[in-house]
This record gives sequence, structure tokens and C-alpha cells, in this order.
Amino acid sequence: MKIKKNDILTIDKYIYEALYNNKTGYYMKKNPFGIKGDFITAPNISILFSEMIAIWIISFWQNLKSPKEFNLIELGSGNGEMIDQIIKTFENFPLFEKCCKINILEKSPYLKKIQKNKLKNKNIKWLNNLNQVSNLPSIFIANEFFDALPFKQFIKKNKKWYERNVKFYNLNKPKLLDILYDISKVEKKIGFKISYKQKFIEYSPSAIEYLNIISQKINLNTGGILIIDYGYWDTLMKNTIKSIYNHKHVDLLNNFGKADITYNINFKIIQKILKNFNLKINGKTNQKKFLLNLGILKRAEIISKKLPFSKKADIYFRIKRLIDKDSMGELFKVLLATDKNTKFKTGFVN
Ligand SMILES: C[S@@+](CC[C@H](N)C(=O)[O-])C[C@H]1O[C@@H](n2cnc3c(N)ncnc32)[C@H](O)[C@@H]1O
Repeated sequence: MKIKKNDILTIDKYIYEALYNNKTGYYMKKNPFGIKGDFITAPNISILFSEMIAIWIISFWQNLKSPKEFNLIELGSGNGEMIDQIIKTFENFPLFEKCCKINILEKSPYLKKIQKNKLKNKNIKWLNNLNQVSNLPSIFIANEFFDALPFKQFIKKNKKWYERNVKFYNLNKPKLLDILYDISKVEKKIGFKISYKQKFIEYSPSAIEYLNIISQKINLNTGGILIIDYGYWDTLMKNTIKSIYNHKHVDLLNNFGKADITYNINFKIIQKILKNFNLKINGKTNQKKFLLNLGILKRAEIISKKLPFSKKADIYFRIKRLIDKDSMGELFKVLLATDKNTKFKTGFVN
């Protein structure tokens, strides 16, 4: 879409254009990961993160009675770092490796190219959409996927609901504009009273669409979805939109297409949506507990035994970033939803 003077975009359309416009979108032209990028994700901090996920996936498969054919679908692979390390770990488990079909759903052609380059010679299917997922027992893995999807915002003022929009009064200086909105339209779409006791609503229509298809696939074929994301469990929703450039928070309206736009996932809402789609919540915890339960420290001890002090220190420094309370440990939440018959608690109980 070409934005013209005085155009009004709902916030989710604004985010879509800022991040995913074919030509100018942030994710369509840039590799944002790492020190030189704008932000860093867990797989890019330590390979141990991806190793833990790989071992968790193998246990999940074993719990499903080791089906001969099994789908792993990564949602939004970024620079491909996580799936690369996951595949390397799978190589130590040949029986599983033979059964596992790896799929990636990636929107950005630019990042897809980076992924294909990094993962050449690997047997991976890049999906155009989730309907292409073959009907097999499946695990969907979403690390920082849902926080990258466009979302809507609604604000309650004087007992009335307004939708947040952006108006391009001037092409370089857009401003927020709240427009009166009938909130029951949203509630009809998502199937529950999201506005109950709320003063602010943030929700992503495209997240709901993805969760709907994923739930159908899981219910049909058995399996689950593991969601790891920046988020919170509070019942009350809040305005968490943020724009990030060069590892710093920047003005949302002054960095269109230049900066990432993201938000904190309200896991209560995600849980409600998954339950409405007939999935069972098998586990919820935070990243710290999840990684500790999976034995990240034990693994670090084993691999660092013969290493010089500086390398050992680096491994532990990176783990600290993943599990520290003030770093990612408690800010990131982990949720597992499965079909109703699957019982699997690995990583969620200590
Ligand atoms: C914040 S990054 C996370 C990347 C990776 N999972 C990681 O942890 O490093 C979000 C990823 O999701 C991709 N993405 C966003 N919307 C998407 C969509 N609708 N379908 C597929 N991929 C999408 C982005 O292009 C990007 O690769």
C-alpha cells in the first residue's frame, strides 16, 4: 500500500505497513538480529537455548509414542539460528532424525533467503501457509513469533470504546487518532467478552487466525504448540506497544519502517483463545524455570569442563542473560498447548 497524506490506518495496519510492506517493511529489507542489529533473541544469545528446545522436542515426540513421521514447524525463523542448532542436535539422535520432517513458516523473503543460505543441504520445507502442513503428529514452535504479528489497540474513555489509529496529517509526522468503535464487533470475532473489566485492549487478529489453523491441525493429528514470548499473565491488559531501533526504545511514529514494533503478549488471552479452539493447556511457566527444568546448567557444566576459563565464563554469562530475572528469565513466558489426549509436562515441573 502506498500511504498518502491524510490516510488513516488502524494500528495493526500501521504496524503491518511498517514491518511487512513488500518494499519498505522493516522485516522485508533488514537482518535485525544481533549486536549489529536492533535486538537479540534467545537463540542468538546461546546455542544452549536451541539445544534445550531440541531435546524437549525429542521428548515430546517420544511421549507421542515415537510416530514414524512427525512434523516440526517453526513459526518465524528469523536468521535461522534456532532451527540450525536444533538440527545439529537432532543429528545425535538418528532414530528421531529419520522420523522428523522440518518445516518453516517465514513471511519475509529477505530473511527466507538468509535462512536458505544458512540451512543449505538441510532437508527443510518452507511453507507458504499453514494449510500446507501435512497431516502428521506435529509440534509447532514459536519463539518471539507472536510478538511480531500486527495487533490492534482499543481504549475505553468515558465508558466508550475507541480504536487506536494513526493519521498521516503529514507524511513524515503521523499522529495517533482514537476513533469511536463498537467493541462487540471484536467480541463476536474472537468468541468471548474480551472487554470485560478492561480499560485497554491489545489483541492480534492474525495471531487468532494462526492459532485457529494450528489448533485444527493439532486436534486432527495430535501434537502441540510451544510458545515462548515476551509477555505477562495479568488479567488486566495494558498498552505495551514499543518501537525498537539499535537496542533502544524509540518513538513509534517517527521511525516508520526503520524500527521494529512489538508488544508484550497477554498470555491469559492466548490461553483463552487456545481453550476456545479446544486445545488443552499442558504447561505454563517462565523461560528461567523452563530452561533450568530442562537442565541447561547441567549441559553447560558438561560442555565447559575442558574449556579455558574465558570460554567457560562466556557460556555462563550467556546463560545468565537467558535466565536472569532482570534479563529474559522472568520477562519471557513459556506455554504449551496440546490436543486433549496428550499429557506432557517436561520443562514445566521441577
Ligand atoms: C522477532 S523475529 C523472531 C525470530 C526467531 N524466532 C528468533 O527467535 O530469533 C519474528 C520472525 O517472525 C517472522 N514473521 C512475522 N510475521 C510472520 C508471519 N505472518 N508468517 C511467518 N513469519 C512471520 C519475521 O519475519 C521474523 O522472522
